[in-house]
Amino acid sequence: MAIRIDGKKISQDIKDELKVKTEELKKEGISPCLAVIQVGNDPASTVYVGNKKKACAYIGIDSRAFELPAETTEEELLALIRDLNEDDSVHGILVQLPIPDHMDEKKVIHAISPLKDVDGFHPESVGALSIGEPGFVSCTPAGIIQLLKRTGISIDGKECVIVGRSNIVGKPMSMLLLKENGTVTVCHSHTKNLKEVCRRADILVAAIGKPKFFDESYVKDGAVVIDVGIHRGADNKLCGDVDYDSVEGKVSAITPVPGGVGPMTIAMLMNNCVESAVRMCKS
Ligand code: GUN
Repeated sequence: MAIRIDGKKISQDIKDELKVKTEELKKEGISPCLAVIQVGNDPASTVYVGNKKKACAYIGIDSRAFELPAETTEEELLALIRDLNEDDSVHGILVQLPIPDHMDEKKVIHAISPLKDVDGFHPESVGALSIGEPGFVSCTPAGIIQLLKRTGISIDGKECVIVGRSNIVGKPMSMLLLKENGTVTVCHSHTKNLKEVCRRADILVAAIGKPKFFDESYVKDGAVVIDVGIHRGADNKLCGDVDYDSVEGKVSAITPVPGGVGPMTIAMLMNNCVESAVRMCKS
């Protein structure tokens, strides 16, 4: 019987730990604060931003919300980011993606100070991760490492296969697994013999973006499967990149969707924000 890796419970534990830490920081006069910028009113973004604000309120992090109209110019957004970079009372800056097409996403991400880049998207943050220097790490892959560690799954010496090479998940995931002494393979749309490569994995991270793509023929007996996908199926139910029912009988541990990787992303964002306040105020 596979262990069901409970991201809901683990993310709650992390938020509870952060709540205690934040209370302690406040006694020292340090009040973590996250600025959340949303441009336009994409409904999915509104839900994500709402969840981030709720998590801040639970932990005791101040959240400063900037809801900008879709017509905001790039220059106006960059000016706001510059102001927030300069504001010592703000420890984290997050621009919810996607942003409208008339803005250059790269330019916007680059404008956020690496010291406040709690999403870990700035090239300086990515570079620091790649050479093992301190910096913020993208929240979803950081959350996956926590899921593994807190479930007692060792990474050291394991064959780790990641399917997907995005800047937000696949690439930072490879760096983090490498840091934990895993043997890492990153697969993508040009990979030959994907199934064979996946069947080598002790730890398979599925981030292909296709609903229920991975069935039991892609996993080896006893593998650990981490499902990063989230899709709404024809039956209106949420599902991941992995066909859970097909794979569950063969693997040793698996994350469900929902309730696996998803809740960890926000927990790690909160962790980065508290960490940022500590770094900025105590160094
Ligand atoms: N849009 C979807 N996921 C994310 C995320 O983790 N951070 C930001 N800034 N935007 C997103």
